[in-house]
Amino acid sequence: GCNLRDELVKRKINVYQSLTRWTNCNGKQLCGTCIVDVPEGVESCTRRSLDEASTLRENPPTYKLACITNLYGDATVKLMP
Ligand code: FES
Repeated sequence: GCNLRDELVKRKINVYQSLTRWTNCNGKQLCGTCIVDVPEGVESCTRRSLDEASTLRENPPTYKLACITNLYGDATVKLMP
């Protein structure tokens, strides 16, 4: 039930590339810079919302916005895909 972005930040793992580390929307689903790849365990994540699906429409189905993804099981996460 943890939020993926919150969990990564809590573990001091950087989710963002370059300047977006400081200019991101802080998890408000406004910037689209917290994209991660979940190659294993994506079925344990919350499904894509309509907004998330729109933002990620040209990305593989395993790509998620970390700030609006909750996990309900084990998953492998690749940062900055
Ligand atoms: S942190 Fe901005 S959309 Fe996720």
